Order: sequence, then structure tokens, then C-alpha cells
Amino acid sequence: MTMSAARPLVFCRVPNRQASTPEIGGNFECGYQADRSLFNGQLRTMLRLWRLMSIAHGHVKAPFVFTITGGGELVHYSVVLPALGRIPGMANRDLEIGPCWTAPAYRGRGLFQFAMRKVCSDLAAEGRAFWMICRSDNQPSKSAIQKVGFSLIGDCEKRPRRHGLSHYYVVVAPAQFIEIRDRLEERARYNSAAREANQEPGTSDVWVNALPAPLRPAYRAYQGALSAAVKSGERLLDVCCGSGWQTEQLRQNGVVVVGVDIADELLAQTFRRQAGSLRLTVGDANTLPFGDGTFDAVTCAGGFSYFSAVSFLGEVRRVLKPGGKLIFVDSFDENPIYRANRWWHFFRGRRSRSVTARIPNLDTLDLISSYFGEVDTQFFGVLTFLVPAVVRAFGEVRTEQLLNATDRSLFRFRRYAFKIVLAATNVKQPSHSAGRAAAGATRSVTGLRRPA
Ligand SMILES: C[S@@+](CC[C@H](N)C(=O)[O-])C[C@H]1O[C@@H](n2cnc3c(N)ncnc32)[C@H](O)[C@@H]1O
Repeated sequence: MTMSAARPLVFCRVPNRQASTPEIGGNFECGYQADRSLFNGQLRTMLRLWRLMSIAHGHVKAPFVFTITGGGELVHYSVVLPALGRIPGMANRDLEIGPCWTAPAYRGRGLFQFAMRKVCSDLAAEGRAFWMICRSDNQPSKSAIQKVGFSLIGDCEKRPRRHGLSHYYVVVAPAQFIEIRDRLEERARYNSAAREANQEPGTSDVWVNALPAPLRPAYRAYQGALSAAVKSGERLLDVCCGSGWQTEQLRQNGVVVVGVDIADELLAQTFRRQAGSLRLTVGDANTLPFGDGTFDAVTCAGGFSYFSAVSFLGEVRRVLKPGGKLIFVDSFDENPIYRANRWWHFFRGRRSRSVTARIPNLDTLDLISSYFGEVDTQFFGVLTFLVPAVVRAFGEVRTEQLLNATDRSLFRFRRYAFKIVLAATNVKQPSHSAGRAAAGATRSVTGLRRPA
């Protein structure tokens, strides 16, 4: 890849689904323009080309132009394009903000910012990201784009297509772009959910009882493993803490709990509800914002697929004191029915690709064993996919008992569990595990091996 001084920069934004729609003041009017005669010849040609590319990519409606008019005159336009394979990392449901223009006499009045807020709020959809490209030497555009909530993802190189009519962008590490985009998607999802839900305070015990029957045995076991692992006065880090309910009981028993989560609005809500008993930090589980050897134990409930296991485990080892512990509960990816269900959610836009692909599996368990001296894993819900029918026939309480009994009797099928609870103790120092972790661990911690 050749280096030049100014390179195209890629920005991405995932708006909250129920962000308020901005209003335009003054004598302006805005709308989505189908009449291409308003635009100059070059833009009209480009719109025609993008239309053809959209059809080739299987999009029904696209592209279109958001316009602002004042006194009957066009004063601003922003082109909105579907994913045309131009930007690496863009998901099929994402939109790209293409060329934007503001009439010289109207610049500096915030029309671009209004247009971006309006487009991103009008077109927000479950799991949809908006993308923009801007040259690295265009300082005013860069700061305007960031002011409306777009995050800088990285830089790229512009390459013409073979037919010369359009171009696309290449980056050194496309997977990294997907990862950052997906993190923004999940943050927006949990922030949106926090706005929608008005959660009442409660204890973890009440909370477990409120869960659907198939989840209760695993979460009860998790609560038990957590209570057994940390004592009063010890420091526990709750990664992906969300509403913080998982550690409520422990805090009442004198454990010092620090919660970290990427969803800032969700954490603000948690902070208001917990009234200071939980110390909270906004942060990413891939790069934990804490010093070395700070915690006696780390826990994570339902968050293991939201980060790279290798980055996270490296961070866990760093922030744990010698001999520290990791306790977590999560879904398990070895059951084909559950796996199909999760991918179904991805295709419906309810989960990002990275999260769907990273649900813990047998390899994750083996990886964890390379970081800890001892690992104890419990498996739950081998028959959970039958639950809707069983609940109807026997009711919730009997179903929970039945699930516990079948998990015990179907122990040899435990790799098809729906949930796992893992308690790992005695964290190893880096020199012991780094080599094996990087090369992919080979020892099985569960006695289960993937078929060759
Ligand atoms: C399934 S929820 C679990 C919440 C909580 N532990 C519970 O059991 O109720 C996953 C949580 O992970 C958070 N999250 C997602 N990606 C994250 C990341 N990269 N770093 C930290 N937290 C993240 C979300 O904001 C959300 O609160």
C-alpha cells in the first residue's frame, strides 16, 4: 500500500434507536429528495451509477438525497448510500453518508450538523451503523463529523475499480474495522435498552427468580460460585456489569465491587439506582482501565462474547493479584440449535457479527485453562430447546426442577449445554501461559474434546 500525506479517514456512528429527532428552525425546509433535476450533472450521473450498483448489491431502495431548501433554493444536500462494497467493515444493513454540500452563503450555520442528526435519527434501525469518509487534511469536515457523534475508525487507501467509473477503499486490517463497528453497535443497543427500560432496584436473589425458567439453574450456580470465591473486604471487578444486579448481594456482604461497562448511558442509570454502593467506570473489556494487580477476582455475567477472549484474558491476568480468580456465566456455542438461533438474531439485526461469532465454546474453555491453575466448569440446559413446550405442560417451577434433573442424567451430553458457569482460580504468571495461549491451548479442561 503506498503512503501519501493525505489519506481518506473512515468514520462510523451507531445512533441510539430512540434519539430525539431534531427540528430545523428559520425559513428552511428539509426532506428526502427523489427529484434529481435539482442536482448538477455530475451528481446526477453518480446517482444513476449508484442506483445500478445498489440493484447489483440487492438493495431495493437506494440511493437518496437529504436536502435543505431556503426560499425555494437548494442550500444543502447529503447523499445517503446503501452498502455498495466500498468501505471494508460495512455491514449490509449499514448506510454510507456520501457527498455533502452546503451553499457557500449558508456555511457555518450548522446545516451539515442538522442534516447528519436528522438523517441518523430518521433512518436509525436495529443494528444499523452510518459510515462516512473524509480526507485526513480536511480539518473542518473532520471536526464537524466528530461533533455529530461519528467515531474515527482508521485510515484507508482509495482505489479505482477496474472499469474506472467508481472507486472503493482498502485498509490494512478489515477485521479491526468490523470489530470497532460492532462495539459501537452493542454500546448503542445497551444504551437504547437503558432508555427504554425503567428498572427498579432489586437484589440478585429477586433478580434470579425473575429470570425465565431455563436460565435460573445456571444463574443460581453462578451466584453460588461468586459468593464462594470472594470474601468481605476483597476487591472484585465486574466486567460488562450492566445494571450491576449480579453483585448486589456481595456488596451487601462487604465485598468491594468495581463495575466496568462500555455503555455510558446504561452506567449513568446504574449509578443513579445503586446510589454509590457500586464503583463504576466506563470502559472497554479489551483494554481494562485499571492498574496491575488491583483485584482479588474478576467476574463477568453474560459478557464473554462482547470482547476478544485473548485480549480480555491478558487483561484479566494483568489486573488480578497473584493467585486471583475469574468467575463467569455465559451461553455456550456447541449446541447447533442455539447456534442457529443466535445467527438468526444476527440476520435480524439484533446482534452484531462479532458477538454472534464469539460465544464461548470448547476452545474458549481450553484457552482459559492456559491462564489459570485450576478451572471448574458446570454445564446447564442440555434440553433447553424443549422448554417452551415443557413450561406449557408443567409450569415454571417443575420445569426448572426437570432441567436440573436432566442435566445431571444427561451429563455425557454436557457439551451441548445452553449455559456454562466457570470458576477459575490461581491465575498464572505471563511466562507460564503466554506461549500456549498464543499458539492455541491444547489441554482440555472439561474432559471434552472437539472431534478431530
Ligand atoms: C448481556 S449484558 C450483561 C449485563 C450484566 N452483566 C447482567 O448480567 O445483567 C452485556 C453487557 O456488556 C456490555 N458491553 C458490551 N460490549 C462491551 C465491551 N467491549 N466492554 C465492556 N462492556 C461491554 C454491554 O453494555 C452490556 O451491559
